[in-house]
Parts: sequence; structure tokens; C-alpha cells
Amino acid sequence: MTTRILTGITTTGTPHLGNYAGAIRPAIVASRAADADSFYFLADYHALIKCDDPARIQRSRLEIAATWLALGLDTDKATFYRQSDIPEIPELCWLLTCVAGKGLLNRAHAYKASVDKNVEQGEDPDAGITMGLFSYPVLMAADILMFNAHKVPVGRDQIQHVEMARDIGQRFNHLFGNGKELFTLPEAVIEEDVATLPGLDGRKMSKSYHNTIPLFGTAKQLKDAVARIVTDSKLPGEAKDADSSHLFTLYQAFAAPAQQAEFRAELESGLAWGEAKNRLYQLLESQLGEARERYNALISKPADLEDILLAGAAKARKTATPFLGELREAVGLRSFRSQAINTAGEKKKAGKSARFVSFRDEDGSFRFRLLDAAGEQLLLSKSFADGKAAGMVNKRLQSGEALDVREQDGAFGVWLDDECVAQSPAFADGDAREAAITRLREALAPQD
Ligand code: TRP
Repeated sequence: MTTRILTGITTTGTPHLGNYAGAIRPAIVASRAADADSFYFLADYHALIKCDDPARIQRSRLEIAATWLALGLDTDKATFYRQSDIPEIPELCWLLTCVAGKGLLNRAHAYKASVDKNVEQGEDPDAGITMGLFSYPVLMAADILMFNAHKVPVGRDQIQHVEMARDIGQRFNHLFGNGKELFTLPEAVIEEDVATLPGLDGRKMSKSYHNTIPLFGTAKQLKDAVARIVTDSKLPGEAKDADSSHLFTLYQAFAAPAQQAEFRAELESGLAWGEAKNRLYQLLESQLGEARERYNALISKPADLEDILLAGAAKARKTATPFLGELREAVGLRSFRSQAINTAGEKKKAGKSARFVSFRDEDGSFRFRLLDAAGEQLLLSKSFADGKAAGMVNKRLQSGEALDVREQDGAFGVWLDDECVAQSPAFADGDAREAAITRLREALAPQD
């Protein structure tokens, strides 16, 4: 079985070396595993919560997209998209908002911290707090649950949000799943052995400390940043303690073990800090130089990046569109076209009958499924150019007219006027197929 790994990157800044070692590099490595099905996306709706500078949002989306691609994310294998290109996400966000407890969200760290700060300053508790900030975890739950992610790699500050996604998903399953797990409940993964890089001053590398080393600045910017790394004042020739030097920690994050040992020995035998910085610079340049060229090439062709991301969104929507159709169905936002069977079959207990689910395919065409009482798919219709045509076929299938069911390798099709209008999934054997045909006939039998 494949594991679906999903994570979002908020698009408010420019990636630095710490983001690379701590998040981007491990995510790209994970996406290459044979059993990985990775969904990585630019959380640009989330960015709007923190930032009201359109130019910065736009610049950051471009830079982050180019960074991941330049560093080797394979978009044939992974699904890479912008959150804002998936309209199903805000729609699901609303469905989840309607079941998420306000009390649950009151406990979210980010919201609580803002309230505490207001109270401390003698302000109204909610001063300056938007509904975006308050609902942030619900949007994040929609990101995760939309794609039924198993694993969500995040920083420690985000664990609570993934747990809220579990809570909200569980509640939705309970209310609308009819015994079925509509949503997979996700798990946060914190990679323990991933490098947390120190910044220039030795504190954690972070934009808010202004101590970052740029990932894809020019070679000169990289060199200048490395030159600003704070060291102790030991002179050339004096032994340096590698373990207490964050310059060494930075070196370690990018060097093979043998290289690390060699560098440590040199520091201990008195290598000058200036020379040590030069070694670190050379190491970083050797690892990032080529990627920087790819980055610059990508950034200079934003229209190509747009195409890549739109293709990623189309791929993601292949999952999101039909799944949202099922969820709408589950909460009672159903087509009136399938109403006929329900009123006619009122004797049947709600939730126990087969049902039609209509949806739009990613290419905009109209289709429907017929699910049996247990939620198993009996039929998937062909694509129809318009909803009316799909509705007509749907209606005829329910009209009680004799069904023309034809077997076709391992599956069966339903024919109307010499055209196959819907097909079953493939079955393990003939018995399973026969049993499904029986369920189909029962489901579509005229109601009296
Ligand atoms: N909130 C996350 C962060 O700031 C970004 C994010 C948005 C995310 N949606 C997500 C991460 C879904 C994981 C899964 O880091």
C-alpha cells in the first residue's frame, strides 16, 4: 500500500538554508520512496492570514515553487500545486467549519497567544484578530482531509493543528459516514534526525531573528553571509572546539561523515576561522550551485512555472472533485435529479438504499456514480458534455425499464440505445460480478 504524505508551505517568505535542510530536503527525499504518494502544496490561502502585502505573497509563491523544482522535486511522481488552485478546498473548509467545535478552536495555540498578548496589554481580547486566524486550523484540516493523507510532516508548532484535523475529521465521519470512514485520520510526523540549523548568530536560523543564510542568492551573497557567521576569537593556529562552533554544525548538515571528520581534525589543529568559513562556503557552493542555476532559469520563466502548477492542480483535482461530490452527497447537498427514487422508495430506511452521486470531472464533464447500500461503487457513468444529458440517462436508469447489462472482461456495462452509458469496476471473479449485478438490479428495480 502506498502512504500518502501531504504538507503545505506557507507562502510569506523566501526560502533560506534552514528551510532547505529542515523541511525541503527531507520532503524531496521522502517523495522519492517507492511507496510514497506525496502531495506538496503552496499554502497561499494560509499566507493571506498573516500577510496583506499582495506583492510579497506573489513573490513568495513564485520563489517557493521555483525552489522546490530546482532542488529536484519530481512533479511526475509527487503532486505539487497551489492551494488556491483547488476550489474544493475552501468548499470543504466550509463543510468542516460547520462541524468544528468553537471550543476546540479557542484552544489553538496561535489564537490563544494573540488573545493572551492582547489581555496583557490591556486591550480587548480579540483586538486585531481576524476570523482567518481563528479558523486557520479548519482550513488546514481541509487541506489534509481533502486528500486523505496518512502522514503530515510538520514542525512541532503544527502538531496541534494536525490533531485538530483528526478531531474534525472524526466528527465528520461520525455524523455523516453512515458507518464508513469518509476521511482518513492523519498523523503528524516530526522528523527527529532532521537538521535544525543554527543561524549566523548561533540561534535557530529564522527569518524573525534576521540571522538567515539565503538559499538561492548570488554566490557573492552566500559568501558574504558565511563571512558574517559569529565565531569565538581564537587566533589562527589555536585549537578550535568543533562541537561548540555553530559554523561546524552548519558544515555537518551538508557534509558526508568522512568530510566532517576531516574538518573537525583541521579545526582542532588550528585552522583559521577565515579559512574555515571559506571551506563552508565551498561546500555550500558545490551543493547548491547547480540548483541555483536551475532556480534562476525557472524564476525567469514564470509562465512555465504557471503551467507546471496548473498541471499539478489538475492532478490534485482528479482526487478532490469526485471526493467532494461524495461529501456533498453525504451532508445532504444532493442533486434533485436523484430525488425521484428517494421519494418513491420512502419505505426504505434512510441511508440503507443505493444512491446516485453526480459530480463534475476535472475536465468539466458531467458524470455520476451509483453506490450500493454499503457505499460500494456499482456503476460509474461515461462522461457527458452537459448535466442535462447526464441527468436524462440517470433518470432512465431509474425509470424501471428493462436493464441491458452486458459483461465485459471482469466487469459489466449498462447499455441504453446501443451505447454503453456506465460501467462497473473490475471484479475479482465471476461470482463477485454476478453478486454486483444482482445488487444493481435490486437497486434499480421499480419501486411500488
Ligand atoms: N500551517 C502550516 C505551517 O505554517 C502550513 C500548512 C498549511 C500545512 N496547510 C497545511 C502543513 C497542511 C501541513 C498540512 O507550517
